[in-house]
Amino acid sequence: MDFKNKIAIVTGGATGIGEAVAKKLASQGATVVVVGLADDPVAEVVKEIQEDYGTEAFGLTKNIGHKNEAEETIKATIEKYGKLDILISNAGIMPEFNPVADFSDEKFDFLLEANIRSMFYITRAAIPELRKTQGCIVASGSVAGLKGLPESASYAGSKAWIHGFMKSLAVEEGPNGVRVNVVCPGPINTEMTQAEVGAVPEDAETMMRTTTVFGRRGTTEEAANFYAFLASDEASFITGGLHVVDGANLLLSGPTGKQAKENLKQYPKVKLNLKHEVEPERTYGVS
Ligand SMILES: NC(=O)c1ccc[n+]([C@@H]2O[C@H](COP(=O)([O-])OP(=O)(O)OC[C@H]3O[C@@H](n4cnc5c(N)ncnc54)[C@H](O)[C@@H]3O)[C@@H](O)[C@H]2O)c1
Repeated sequence: MDFKNKIAIVTGGATGIGEAVAKKLASQGATVVVVGLADDPVAEVVKEIQEDYGTEAFGLTKNIGHKNEAEETIKATIEKYGKLDILISNAGIMPEFNPVADFSDEKFDFLLEANIRSMFYITRAAIPELRKTQGCIVASGSVAGLKGLPESASYAGSKAWIHGFMKSLAVEEGPNGVRVNVVCPGPINTEMTQAEVGAVPEDAETMMRTTTVFGRRGTTEEAANFYAFLASDEASFITGGLHVVDGANLLLSGPTGKQAKENLKQYPKVKLNLKHEVEPERTYGVS
């Protein structure tokens, strides 16, 4: 993959998956604009990119969930580098683990700002520039938005919104030469999936770790390799897709049934005359 002369913005680019994507693109020659919140290590990541890869990089501390700051992000990039080729729209949060019945207003508002407003504002501001370069967007969706995530329904819903938004955009902007793709990561080893440092409780962390066929979370670099491919010219015929990077997490289901109330585990009485139904407790000789 060759990203020489390409200008890329990576939102949420100072930690986790975003940091790995920023560094992957820089390692292949891209000029990267790292965007993050005030307490993110934006300056540090920019310095590391410059030192490790010898490429140009630039940091912006912006809350892109605010319209003016999202627009300033695009404006500052154009003022500094004159164009935009790649938008990695990755900023997002999973702020609280709780059933919907107990989910707080405060965290719900925060989630709307970080996962939905941010995507809309940065995308809308970027499109005119991406049309000029026939550039591309790679957005962070989630396996949670495909199959749901208990105790994180608002998060899963926000990701499903991103999937629909980006698919629609791919069709709108395809004729202008702008490609749009979504990566749906499964459990990746970042703060978001670590009980010790993130909002995720320990049992959910264990579930995330064990519901991949490799029995581990993916690394941020494993995810970044795929974001970079989608952003590269090699992916020129790929647009409008939801692409999982998940160790087959989407195909596996966890032991949620173990938590069901005892009465729910009883089979209901059969009312129809079903001669060919398999006895629920039939073991086929295997116990
Ligand atoms: N880690 C996983 O297992 C996983 C799985 C599926 C999807 N994702 C998605 O991948 C993306 C990256 O997540 P991560 O795991 O690397 O977590 P992370 O917390 O390390 O990265 C998210 C980054 O986005 C930044 N950010 C949040 N809101 C912002 C805003 N309004 N403006 C600017 N920056 C903002 C955060 O400060 C943080 O640096 C997220 O969109 C997340 O939903 C992650």
